[in-house]
Amino acid sequence: MKQELETIQADALSAIEAATDQKILDEARVAFLGKKGRLTAASAAMKDLPNEEKPAYGQALNMARQAITAAIESKLAALQEEADKKSVEGIDLTLPPRELLEGGLHPLTLIKDRAIQILRRMGFALAEGPEIETEYHCFDALNTPDDHPARNEKDTFYFDSGKLLRTHTSSVQIRTMEKATPPVRIIAPGSAYRRDEIDATHLSVFNQLEGLFVAEDVKLGDLKGTLEYFLRALFGNETEVRFRPHFFPFTEPSFEIDVKLHVKGQAPKWIEVAGCGMVDPAVFASLAESRGDDLFDPEKVTGFAFGMGLDRLAMIQWGIKDIRLLIENDTRFLKQFA
Ligand code: DAH
Repeated sequence: MKQELETIQADALSAIEAATDQKILDEARVAFLGKKGRLTAASAAMKDLPNEEKPAYGQALNMARQAITAAIESKLAALQEEADKKSVEGIDLTLPPRELLEGGLHPLTLIKDRAIQILRRMGFALAEGPEIETEYHCFDALNTPDDHPARNEKDTFYFDSGKLLRTHTSSVQIRTMEKATPPVRIIAPGSAYRRDEIDATHLSVFNQLEGLFVAEDVKLGDLKGTLEYFLRALFGNETEVRFRPHFFPFTEPSFEIDVKLHVKGQAPKWIEVAGCGMVDPAVFASLAESRGDDLFDPEKVTGFAFGMGLDRLAMIQWGIKDIRLLIENDTRFLKQFA
């Protein structure tokens, strides 16, 4: 009987040793330790032994089982290690890892977000309007006469339908007031389009931020205070701001706003950042007519409006000398903002 056990153990160990993969190893386990395995059969035979031989036989059985189990475990570990080695064959694990590119926001997004944040704190809500506009919303309703140069085919992208790519975000003023009830206090950031020759300060697609405040008794001082506060919040408390009389069809009086730019090693200079003014009563009058009510009757409400170039604000904020850098997506440029 003992002899038999020794044979089983020897056969098991050589079968385990010969296994070349986990499946074959498992077959060997089943053949010896499984329900119908050889060692299992041998332990069943114990009951036929005389009592005095049972303990020794039991011990021998246990030892055989332990030896086979240990052999299976160590073979399994060896097979696993071999498989691991194979899976990294040809891969140089000492190579440094590839550089992870870090994302960041585009400077235009940064400046737009900042501007929105400041103006929302002052009570302005976001508004929007379509980029493909009607002549009515872009010009007529903004008191812009037929022969105004901005309406020229040379300056504006027209579609065959007669619609156009909005030349400014001021159309959102009209879109908003068509539906709103005063008081109205909105800002509208967005793209505008002009058939400009592209150079260091002009793009044919650029970004503006429009603002409008309409209520009873809005005054020029409100306009001035709001925009001065805004520009100082954006560029710093020391920022010098200047309002220069100008003309826009939809505001009266109208101004251009300049910010004094200090560049190291250069004489400071004034840079235009926005147009603004008190909403022209003619704009309210035309609205009253199209709405068919008197909520925007120029006798009842007044307002101020402004429109600034976000590209321009970004250029001032970071001393960017060429506006084209903002659309070229050169990572060497963009990385500086990430
Ligand atoms: N729409 C003007 C432009 O694109 C800017 C502007 C000027 C907007 C005066 C206004 C404003 O709202 O009141 O040049």
